[in-house]
Amino acid sequence: MAFSDSFLQDLADRNDIVDVVSGYVALTRRSGRNLFGLCPFHSEKTPSFSVSPDKQIYYCFGCGKGGSVINFIMEAENLSFPDAVHFLARRAGIQVPEDKPDLNSRRRERMLELNREAARFFYNCLVKEPDNPAQKYINLRGISGAMVKSFGLGFAPNTWDSLVTAMRAKGYTRQELLDSGLARSGKGGGIYDAFRNRLMFPVIDVRSSVIGFSGRILDDNEPKYLNSPDTLVFDKRRNLFALNLAKRSKSGYMILTEGNIDVISLHQAGFDSAVASLGTSLTPEQARLISRYAQEVVIAYDNDEAGRNASQRAIGILEKLDLKVRVLNIQGAKDPDEYIRTRGADAFRNLIERSENHIEYRLQVVQSKHDLGADEGKVAFLKEASQLVAGLGSPVEREVYGSRIAEMAGVSREVVEDEVRRLRKRMLSNTKKKQEKGTLRPVKVAQPKFKNIKYENVRSAAAEEGVIRLLYLDPGLFKDRDFPKKEDFSSELLGRLYEEIRQRTLEGGSLSMAALSESFTADEISHLTGILQKPEMLSNGAKALEDYIEIMRAEKNSRENKDLRLIAEKYRQKKGYGG
Ligand code: UTP
Ligand code: MN
Repeated sequence: MAFSDSFLQDLADRNDIVDVVSGYVALTRRSGRNLFGLCPFHSEKTPSFSVSPDKQIYYCFGCGKGGSVINFIMEAENLSFPDAVHFLARRAGIQVPEDKPDLNSRRRERMLELNREAARFFYNCLVKEPDNPAQKYINLRGISGAMVKSFGLGFAPNTWDSLVTAMRAKGYTRQELLDSGLARSGKGGGIYDAFRNRLMFPVIDVRSSVIGFSGRILDDNEPKYLNSPDTLVFDKRRNLFALNLAKRSKSGYMILTEGNIDVISLHQAGFDSAVASLGTSLTPEQARLISRYAQEVVIAYDNDEAGRNASQRAIGILEKLDLKVRVLNIQGAKDPDEYIRTRGADAFRNLIERSENHIEYRLQVVQSKHDLGADEGKVAFLKEASQLVAGLGSPVEREVYGSRIAEMAGVSREVVEDEVRRLRKRMLSNTKKKQEKGTLRPVKVAQPKFKNIKYENVRSAAAEEGVIRLLYLDPGLFKDRDFPKKEDFSSELLGRLYEEIRQRTLEGGSLSMAALSESFTADEISHLTGILQKPEMLSNGAKALEDYIEIMRAEKNSRENKDLRLIAEKYRQKKGYGG
């Protein structure tokens, strides 16, 4: 029996893992993004069971069990996969659809191909003919040729059917063109191009698939932007413009802007981690996506009322995921694009750096959460605000803002100073512990924690795990090279996990743990969760991938040579040559 990916995703979305697990385990927030509790699956005295709200998975560092909310219910309630699905559907009050295979996967694949062809078509229209209006507009906005290339910008010509004609010649049907949102149907039953006379921005997801388009008008007409409708492959609320590029940034933070043009301006000025939501205000799904790649978000919305309101909303959403949030205070320009054009990249960098000390803003946010008129409110405020102040690097700042919060809450300065000192000491000793752990522990290539899963070649398996991790986190790395083959894996299980993720990546299927859970046993999913928990340097993903593949190849060769030697040996014995 098979459930569709989209249903499993929906089911997981409506059963937040923190809510569900909280029914079984008392969870507390320690530092960082995860919640911890005592593992319900093995006996322990100190909590090693973690739940990640942003990844929507659980993982026990003690016994190695882990997976999606569905796997949790399977374990906790001792249910089969389908029964756990029904259990959660009942819990969320949703219907389980009739069992049928995912008929949409072929259609999805075709749509992605069509989008890619369309992007190529728009790109060619832009670059092949130098004097077109979109190129003129690009020049006017000061966008470089390098940006045109890395964003794959394009031009939708001012005609009714250039794209439709070109795509039909490639074999795409009328229905496929309509479904993708690239064409619309006219009165007489014909179809025509949806995007005309626009500067085209392809929306590319983290797997490097072109999933939709955004088209900006070239003059002051309306509507200013036209976006692809939601389709089988495009869901505005679950994607971000330029995330395909930003996810590789080494900056450690993501810059969140409102406009596509802001994003391009920022990338051009060297801020390679800028993204924009796609004409919607930031959604929780987008925030979760960001949290996969960065711990910190710099909000750089427009300098107007709407921008400020949107910032407030975004802060709320991002903070729920424990992302560190900074807000830029752009002044003297209406948006990041104008700011950079008039003041330059260095000024913008300053703005980001200054916002780090933008403690004022964060204190206000903390203050607004608590009622300082009531005693409990005061205590809660002081706790949270002292934490914030204790995290400041400079002693002067700690003193200044320590006094400030004492004043705000109406208590003595000394009380706050003591509290801040205590918290700071704890913070420092925690980081020290972490560092020691990180450096002293040798790189251990461990056997899986499950009896029925054994690695024959731990060295190769570690590399194979790395390949899986990279494919999951940054499938774009595999684009211009041959995929490793399932047979290259020394571990049968890792080969299977890899193959499933690879298929889904190519077909645009879901990679959520909930969707993957169906194809693997509980132990296998636990093991995969463990693999994905290990840290991976995405900023140097390409190099890491090469290294992993090299190790796999070397190990495979020595394996095969050994087999050959054994065969030769046997042969010799048969012939009576050997001893
Ligand atoms: P803006 O109007 O700020 O556009 O809308 P922009 O990209 O910054 O362009 P310039 O610099 O003003 O020329 C911000 C974003 O809102 C969405 C688009 O994604 C746009 O990038 N939007 C805007 C729409 O979806 N539809 C619209 O009609 C306008
Ligand atoms: Mn704008």
